[in-house]
Amino acid sequence: MTTISTQPIAGQKPGTSGLRKKTPVFMGPHYLENFVQAIFDVIGAKGKTFVLGGDGRYFNDRAAQVILRMAAANGAVRVIIGQGAILSTPAASHLIRLNNTDGGIIMSASHNPGGPNEDFGVKFNMSNGGPAPEGVTEAMYKRTTEIFEYHIVESQDVDLSVIGRSQLAGMIVDVVDPVADYATLMESLFDFSAIAAMFKGGFRMRMDSMCAVTGPYAVEILEKRLGAAAGTCINATPLPDFGGMHPDPNPTWAKALMDEMFGDNAPDFGAASDGDGDRNMVVGAGAYVSPSDSLAVLAANAHLAPGYKAGLKGVARSMPTSAAADRVAASLGIACYETPTGWKFFGNLLDAGRATICGEESFGTGSDHVREKDGLWAILLWLNILAVRKQSVAAILAEHWGKFGRNYYSRHDFEAIASDKADAMMAALRGSLTSLPGTQLEGLTVQAADDFAYTDPVDGSVSKAQGVRILFEDGSRIVLRLSGTGTEGATLRLYLERYAAGPDGLDLDPQDALAPVIRAAHALAKIESFTGRVTPDVIT
Ligand code: G1P
Ligand code: ZN
Repeated sequence: MTTISTQPIAGQKPGTSGLRKKTPVFMGPHYLENFVQAIFDVIGAKGKTFVLGGDGRYFNDRAAQVILRMAAANGAVRVIIGQGAILSTPAASHLIRLNNTDGGIIMSASHNPGGPNEDFGVKFNMSNGGPAPEGVTEAMYKRTTEIFEYHIVESQDVDLSVIGRSQLAGMIVDVVDPVADYATLMESLFDFSAIAAMFKGGFRMRMDSMCAVTGPYAVEILEKRLGAAAGTCINATPLPDFGGMHPDPNPTWAKALMDEMFGDNAPDFGAASDGDGDRNMVVGAGAYVSPSDSLAVLAANAHLAPGYKAGLKGVARSMPTSAAADRVAASLGIACYETPTGWKFFGNLLDAGRATICGEESFGTGSDHVREKDGLWAILLWLNILAVRKQSVAAILAEHWGKFGRNYYSRHDFEAIASDKADAMMAALRGSLTSLPGTQLEGLTVQAADDFAYTDPVDGSVSKAQGVRILFEDGSRIVLRLSGTGTEGATLRLYLERYAAGPDGLDLDPQDALAPVIRAAHALAKIESFTGRVTPDVIT
């Protein structure tokens, strides 16, 4: 073992999903090593077993070899790693749980582009399979500010291309099939024979893995096990630069899929997933499903899948996610939790058995089968529901809105704003909150305004300043917060919502339905005068 002297590198502060930086930064001297040592110093590696894998982006393979050497030098007894250092985030979460390990390291910057000049990331998941909580990531950050040495063994690369067991300086390295255990888990939750029968009956699907990690998972599960036609899965080979794609499954970045689903001869069902496989977008022929609606439909129909036939214990959604799921929870008579943005807040609810299904407006849905959101899981649950209900996606959505009403919803992102301008805007908005109730504009009257704070019902921990909420008397809502995952300046996220009870007014275009709410948001937050921005960069 070698101990290398180092010194702190500024800015190694993990955000909501681990440490994300430009790849050249991560490849800089001691950068990866310092952060990995900080992880091991906080978690402790001696005698422990970890899972390791990543989404296959540029530097994934090299980083894996460094992390293996450091795990061995820090006294870990075993690392379970996906073949080729590949593991989707949900598959990693599952392997951590299945093997009762002490946690895992996932190499990914999620939906951010990958490549020599794009993004890289490292995050630690705990033994429950979920992202490290704030206290732990804070401790890691603190450690990076005081680090002076790291430990690494000198060795040849471990051959990660072959499944099987080897040794690295006394540590066991188990290279496993990244897909097999995950696919078995999916088979235990969903009615694979019903879905296979649907495909056999001519049901057509398009699955776009966006040249990212879910390709091998999708091909194995959809084409091989469920018998979807060959070619159903596209962009199914994970590439170091994701083929130049921006692997974020939303209508902007998965435009080719949207065009196909809204074109002539569209397949019955389309889906896409992100860089590390935890996000999903689903779309029917001519029918886009917003993530907030997807969560609500999945919650209302989950009992149709074998893994959820006993019903749900509760539903949880992040605060900016629309209240569509709340209406389903109310009608099912189950609890609905509203948490801050970020999957880690769902972990305690899932561990405590208070919630079964969770979701975020940012194309994330999942359940208590793992402790991460899970793109393919959501896609398979939709397929199971479609196989049982034998209706189109459009018909299922229309019935859902007819029963519960429709929460029109959209998110507008303003990217790469100078951080000081974004901070000034949020500070001014926060300062104005108490004066807002009663304000009238665009035919709307402000009922309440606050800065969302959350007390975890399981461990009592408090998270403050999670986003500004402005609620109007008609139930419309505006939420503003700054992204915690961006790598360039600040990203302002503006979330817009308006409820229509129906039966009329259920088929408007969301941007039209939300127009007054959008104008009110710009007026209240003075977005243009603070940031110079009027038009969002991404609308979802
Ligand atoms: C974004 C999403 C959030 C999600 C996170 C990780 O975080 O908004 O819902 O949990 O990515 O995928 P943000 O950049 O808004 O902090
Ligand atoms: Zn992701």
